[in-house]
Amino acid sequence: MKFFVDSAEIDDIQKAKALGLADGVTTNPTLIRKSGRDFRQAITEIADLVKGPVLAEPVSNTVNDIVKEGKILASWAPNVVVKIPLNHAGLEATQILREENIQTALTLVFNTAQALLAAKAGAKYICPFVGRLDDIDTSGMDLIADIMQIYDNYPDLETEVIVASVRTPEHVTESAALGADGVTAPLKVIQQMVHHPLTDIGIEKFLKDWNATEK
Ligand code: E4P
Repeated sequence: MKFFVDSAEIDDIQKAKALGLADGVTTNPTLIRKSGRDFRQAITEIADLVKGPVLAEPVSNTVNDIVKEGKILASWAPNVVVKIPLNHAGLEATQILREENIQTALTLVFNTAQALLAAKAGAKYICPFVGRLDDIDTSGMDLIADIMQIYDNYPDLETEVIVASVRTPEHVTESAALGADGVTAPLKVIQQMVHHPLTDIGIEKFLKDWNATEK
């Protein structure tokens, strides 16, 4: 189960890495803007910090431009994966980049039809957005179950499912229960996963009893 840190902040990535939870990093234009950093500088620094894939998103709209921009992003570091929004142009660009051995992650996936097309196009990863589906009162996790079922039916489809738009620890554990290959995890969710109030109460009581013990 891979954890892709959902952030462009070096501090977040370092904290996740210290917990062994930075198998990769995913960014998007919103996260880059939030970090206030130059795109190239942010991606190269992140790609240096983690060994695994670093997902970087082109902002072009046409097939040619996505391919051109994708090649530039992929040249920044060997572990950069080009993260492409799944639409018609994105699928065509994915096939072209695959032929040039450039790995892609198809993002903004919201249904099983898109997931099937992404696998056929040869995407290394897909990022189905569970939180944004929950936001419109549609079960994000049901989508993951359906995608896993479809991919399991066809072992030749090798695309990995990285569950994205993760908002809660339950999104992570349910993804694991469904056998998803990974999740994109914001640091806040990672920290929520660490803490349990009964663990804190237990530590406090053990410490209190230890301090009251004659030594
Ligand atoms: C993932 O690939 C995206 O960067 C991210 O998970 C989107 O999450 P959000 O829906 O919380 O913005």
